[in-house]
Amino acid sequence: MSEQQSLFSPEESKEEKHEERLNGETSKAKIRITELRNQLHHHAYQYYVLDTPQIADAKYDALYRELETLEAQNPEFADANSPTQRVGAKPKEGFTQFKHPVRLYSLSNAFHQTELKDWANRALKILKSTEEIEKTEAEEAERAKEEPSAQFDLDYVAELKIDGLAVSLIYEEGRFIRATTRGDGSIGEDVTANVRTIESIPLVLQPLEGEFREKATNSLEIRGEIFLPIDQFYRLNEEQDKRGEKRFANPRNAGAGAVRQLDPNITASRKLDAFFYGATVLAGNQQSGWVESDEPLMDTHGETLELLKTMGFKVNPYRQHCKNLEGVEQFIQHWEAERFNLNVSTDGVVVKVNRLNFQKELGYTAKSPRWAIAWKYPPEEQTTTVLDIEQSMGRTGVITPVAKLEPVFISGSTVQNATLHNYDELAKKDVRIGDTVWIRKAGEIIPEVIKVELSKRPQDAQPIKAPLECPSCGAAVLQDEGEVALRCSNQATCPAQRYHQLTHFVSKGAMDMDGVGPALIEQLLAAEKIQSPSDLYHLNASDLSELERMGEKSAKNAIEAIQESKSRPLAALLFGLGIRHVGKENAILLVNHYPKLRDLMSAPKENLEHIDGVGPKVAESICQFFEQPKHQQLIDNLEAAGVQTEDKQAGESPNNSNLVLAGLSVVVTGTLPTLGRADAEEKIRIAGGKPAKSVSKKTAFLVAGESAGSKLTKAEALGIPVVDEATFLNILSEEIALPF
Ligand code: IVH
Repeated sequence: MSEQQSLFSPEESKEEKHEERLNGETSKAKIRITELRNQLHHHAYQYYVLDTPQIADAKYDALYRELETLEAQNPEFADANSPTQRVGAKPKEGFTQFKHPVRLYSLSNAFHQTELKDWANRALKILKSTEEIEKTEAEEAERAKEEPSAQFDLDYVAELKIDGLAVSLIYEEGRFIRATTRGDGSIGEDVTANVRTIESIPLVLQPLEGEFREKATNSLEIRGEIFLPIDQFYRLNEEQDKRGEKRFANPRNAGAGAVRQLDPNITASRKLDAFFYGATVLAGNQQSGWVESDEPLMDTHGETLELLKTMGFKVNPYRQHCKNLEGVEQFIQHWEAERFNLNVSTDGVVVKVNRLNFQKELGYTAKSPRWAIAWKYPPEEQTTTVLDIEQSMGRTGVITPVAKLEPVFISGSTVQNATLHNYDELAKKDVRIGDTVWIRKAGEIIPEVIKVELSKRPQDAQPIKAPLECPSCGAAVLQDEGEVALRCSNQATCPAQRYHQLTHFVSKGAMDMDGVGPALIEQLLAAEKIQSPSDLYHLNASDLSELERMGEKSAKNAIEAIQESKSRPLAALLFGLGIRHVGKENAILLVNHYPKLRDLMSAPKENLEHIDGVGPKVAESICQFFEQPKHQQLIDNLEAAGVQTEDKQAGESPNNSNLVLAGLSVVVTGTLPTLGRADAEEKIRIAGGKPAKSVSKKTAFLVAGESAGSKLTKAEALGIPVVDEATFLNILSEEIALPF
């Protein structure tokens, strides 16, 4: 205490003393808060990252509660990175966009050993031809005395490719600042609040020694993959079942959905995890913005992974340093079957050139690094039991046999149904109820039965016969000449066909009636409120609110959506009518030539056949459809209800020549960050272009997303421009010129 204080009056002195005691307590609290936070960070690291807890859960909880209490009493010491703040408040609005300081590329794929070898040879060739390698060669020659074999064989790190959600984290002075999704590679979404809930992600980095201490106090960008462990995926789906909610298709969707939840509580409840594989030093800070710094963190990728571990990150444990490509191939082989025994979903192996100076030298193509490649495993095959073989009917009355399977997890999702295509195919494969069958996903998407495991066939299993009658209405089943499909002959009143026609009519690519889904259609049919698509337009809100589980608001919204659909483009209506062989693409082609439905209806078959892209089969089908009086009646009724049957825009410019992509062929490949394949193709059509399935010299440009494969390679070989989704959207909005 200073001398001056003796001059204060006794009261003042008393007050001062009180204040001092308070100050003392506050600073004691501050010290204890810091201590507790450090302890909790340390124990969380031991538990969640190293999986070697040092204290009992109860002890951890006690420390946690003590910290919570102290923080509540001393709000001035609040800290977003406190262990108590993992689950924070909801962001008020949706996610904001954030530009990545360092672009996130995607990887090119190898499906065959030759592709892997070609990749390695290309890399070696580039490296050998550069000055840099000469320098390195000289350096290596010096070193060769100690390490005679280290000279020219490229070494690699092979890591299992985690099938999750890519994320980029920023740390400043060792503290977690921000998490961003990959987005289109340049701009992602700020998911900081949600990523903070992932317990194995450090909020504060572990203290480092020596030179790294300084490096880690810089701003760092850390990359990795967030994923939902498979056991958590199963747990989550059990909970969904209990709540009567829809199951998640695969761990990747459930995980990605969790990261993109607006409420961090939901993210926290999903128990996500993450592996990290990259670290870059950034210059700048949160205020000024960050840019990539030239300062290399390490010499090799392997060392970077070790550093990440030391900093407190979980690093993919399924990895190996390989002295040469043979080592990589062995790693790939080892995990081919073994990967199914892990608690994490993987779809391949990422192979990376180990030395970072080589990586720098190799650089990037438009889409991906030349120093890394993703090996993709061939589609997984699994066995399961056939519980039943059902007859499923589509909107055109085709009856398809579908195998109902004992649920099985395959290539990233749970499969319960597999199409058997048609009764010829079913007879050929001779699939019977009770059989054990091998299934796989065609193109990793549609599950199909490959063959029956005859050794496991139950003795009483009976062959399945093709139906003679429609399973829905009992009408006779027909088979068109030259076709394998069986079809219900009762187009007019078959309830199953009616249901499918209606659900197709209201669906997204057609009249797009939001809030009018299959369940509502089923209810409306059952209540005999509708029979044909035109009846939808005569419904009112009270018709709907009489139905079970239909609130007033949903009823009002559904009616609005129905009314709104009256002005959909003619191509949407034409597609929605469900004419055989008239998909979205054909509908657009037809409307380009016949912007008035009435003109199309009366067009002679020969004229239709001559439209580029429309063949005799399609022309025949269209004529047959409109010849039928009930379809003519349907169009009359739709028009009377106010549905537009003329395309104004197309009418004004029948050849669409003023549209951005007029006459151009554009290919879409890979997974785009926001647009589905169908959406992207739809946009191409709307812009007057033609979405093509394969790359050729005629392709104007390729829109490539993540995991783009052979189409990308081919486009690159042919020198065809490749753009990402963001550029594609800019081209459409004419913000930038076409890429040639
Ligand atoms: S390295 C320049 N390593 O795969 C890209 N990526 O197509 C370098 N992924 O979404 C990526 N596991 O997040 C790398 N061990 C791993 C990975 C991995 C999963 C993801 C990555 C990206 C995609 C690349």
